[in-house]
Amino acid sequence: MNKNLIALVTGANAGLGFATAKKFCDNGITTYVNGRNKEKTLQACEELGPNAKPFILDLNNLDEIPEAVAKLAEEAGKIDILVNNAGINMKKEFLEVTNDEFQNILHTNVLALFAVSREVAKVMKKNNYGSIIRRISAKPLDRRMALTISKFSRSRRECMPSMSSCIEYLLVLLSEAIVIS
Ligand SMILES: NC(=O)c1ccc[n+]([C@@H]2O[C@H](COP(=O)([O-])OP(=O)(O)OC[C@H]3O[C@@H](n4cnc5c(N)ncnc54)[C@H](OP(=O)(O)O)[C@@H]3O)[C@@H](O)[C@H]2O)c1
Repeated sequence: MNKNLIALVTGANAGLGFATAKKFCDNGITTYVNGRNKEKTLQACEELGPNAKPFILDLNNLDEIPEAVAKLAEEAGKIDILVNNAGINMKKEFLEVTNDEFQNILHTNVLALFAVSREVAKVMKKNNYGSIIRRISAKPLDRRMALTISKFSRSRRECMPSMSSCIEYLLVLLSEAIVIS
């Protein structure tokens, strides 16, 4: 594998993001490991070895994303790969989901993802190269509606008839717009 690649994996201090970062690091890709918990993120980098670099940022702080990404790009020189992995889940019945809870899910799983992708895409455009990968969920529309919608789960067609509001169209358009790899 090309040893000069630079990757950013969001939510990479644990779980699937960590596994993705590990694969990258093991293949010689310099990987920025994102997480909001500093200790956990530094610990993950230590476990991942010298190719891992911490990128500590709560992606819900949308205003901080442009400067943080620009700083990373300045340090690394470029960003070749973005894996939008960070995400939150809520195992709750649809009828019990509050507006605030739904908004929280959308904030992390959609808005933050959009903001990071936009800033990284600016860097990639300058370099005329880059891949943006979005981790979704294979779960179809079910009682865990908040997760399903925010992750554009398995079939958008399955979601369409059930969700008449325009927000879903917006989300679908957004998802098409930001997957540029
Ligand atoms: N596990 C599954 O079965 C499954 C299936 C399909 C899809 N997915 C999706 O795959 C992704 C990873 O899932 P997982 O189970 O590995 O998750 P996880 O173990 O709960 O890890 C989530 C990661 O996201 C980070 N994160 C969450 N909110 C963040 C924020 N605002 N800013 C920065 N980092 C944030 C966490 O970092 P901190 O600890 O520092 O907050 C953590 O590193 C998620 O998007 C999930 O929806 C998971």
